[in-house]
Amino acid sequence: MDKTAEKIIMNLQIVTLGNEVLREKALSVEVFDKELEDTINEMFILMHEKKGVGLAAPQVGISRRFFVTEAMDDKPRLFINPEIIETSQETVKGEEGCLSLPGVWANVERPLAIKIQAQDLKGKVFHFSAEGWLARIILHENDHLNGLLFVDRLDKGQKNRIISKYEKLSQSR
Ligand code: NI
Repeated sequence: MDKTAEKIIMNLQIVTLGNEVLREKALSVEVFDKELEDTINEMFILMHEKKGVGLAAPQVGISRRFFVTEAMDDKPRLFINPEIIETSQETVKGEEGCLSLPGVWANVERPLAIKIQAQDLKGKVFHFSAEGWLARIILHENDHLNGLLFVDRLDKGQKNRIISKYEKLSQSR
């Protein structure tokens, strides 16, 4: 993120559970323009502000296929029109939360390692491999592009428990 990005007036807001956009299958990005770049810069700012490690476009009300990540000890990363092209058979459980369900966390089982193909800000295709925490973040964000939330990866009882906890929390806010 460069200096100019910090001057952008914030107008994106994170949408939370209950907003329909979180349940839509997002459309591909077809135009790689200044507006896309500005939006992405704002998403990085918003993600830092909310202390998130990933943020997908539907979470700011934009039903398009892109997301940003910045895991601890990793650099900021951008994935446009991502495709998960390989996942390891080995899976691992790890704790996840989501800026669209603030205040609740749960252990989610996901592949340990992935290979992903995506486009950069100029539309150039690249390939990337990740494992562990970063793979988890990428898979979580990629789910957002398909209308899925981490709670959908839990068994039914656990999902209901987490959602009712979240609802109680949001009523008391
Ligand atoms: Ni999320």
